[in-house]
Amino acid sequence: MFERVRVTTGIPFIDAYTQGGFIKGTTNLLIGPAGAGKTIFGLHFLFDGARRNENGLLVAMQEPPWAIRRDASSFSFFDHNYFAEPEKVIMLDFTPSGWELWDPDSLSYSEDTELMLDVEGVPYDETSLPTFLHKIFYLISQKVEEKKIERIVIDPLAAFRFYDYGNDYGFLRKLATGFLANIAALNVTTIAISELSSTSDHTLFGEEYIADSIFHLDMLSVRGEMMRILRITKMRGTNHTTKTLRYEITNDGISFIEPEDD
Ligand SMILES: Nc1ncnc2c1ncn2[C@@H]1O[C@H](COP(=O)(O)OP(=O)(O)OP(=O)(O)O)[C@@H](O)[C@H]1O
Ligand SMILES: [Mg+2]
Repeated sequence: MFERVRVTTGIPFIDAYTQGGFIKGTTNLLIGPAGAGKTIFGLHFLFDGARRNENGLLVAMQEPPWAIRRDASSFSFFDHNYFAEPEKVIMLDFTPSGWELWDPDSLSYSEDTELMLDVEGVPYDETSLPTFLHKIFYLISQKVEEKKIERIVIDPLAAFRFYDYGNDYGFLRKLATGFLANIAALNVTTIAISELSSTSDHTLFGEEYIADSIFHLDMLSVRGEMMRILRITKMRGTNHTTKTLRYEITNDGISFIEPEDD
């Protein structure tokens, strides 16, 4: 029988409803609209890891690391020490503005480099999403080894939208599957953040089928007030709550409101 080691989510309330948190080595999807608290949830996870001496990596794809760090510093759980040597929270900048900072030579990556992202039949092409993902994966795997990373947050999986493949969802899904499977093979526990498409309940790359769990954040308008809710719609290997959980965002980050009939 496989041993199921749990990795705390960073939010004790959620751990209590999920048999102790994420299963070690799994990929967990956090889905929700803009402003739902996805990044803040990811920061809870990384800072909780830092407290436990489990180093974390934030893979920034949209909001640059300096902005995430600036916004995070107002929360009570933030600790500057985690960014000082020896770093416990590391941030990689893969935002479009960060691309300009890339020195291709410093990547020790070239056409001849053995591709570590194993997606069958995907050619090397400097301008393509597969090559971009190869580079990202290469740098992530380097950091994981160098800094003994145990927790990763990918915020968000937006890179798939930086390139236009029209309606070729099969191709995008193949890439997303390959990318996330290769990250999982690094034996880290991952939160992948995904934005909800405004026209559909489903995300674009089939990541909800690839992921081991799905945490769905949402915002409702109730009597003129915004109500924040979280549903766990999937969690493989886990007897998780099926309740809709209410939360707030305060200076302490995400805090949950005990369901009334509990
Ligand atoms: N100190 C605070 N007190 C109360 N609410 C806060 C505080 N700081 C942030 N928020 C709320 O958190 C929201 C931002 O959360 P977060 O950045 O995690 O959202 P997100 O889901 O990552 O959004 P996006 O998809 O745009 O990146 C703000 O819009 C605000 O409503
Ligand atoms: Mg965010």
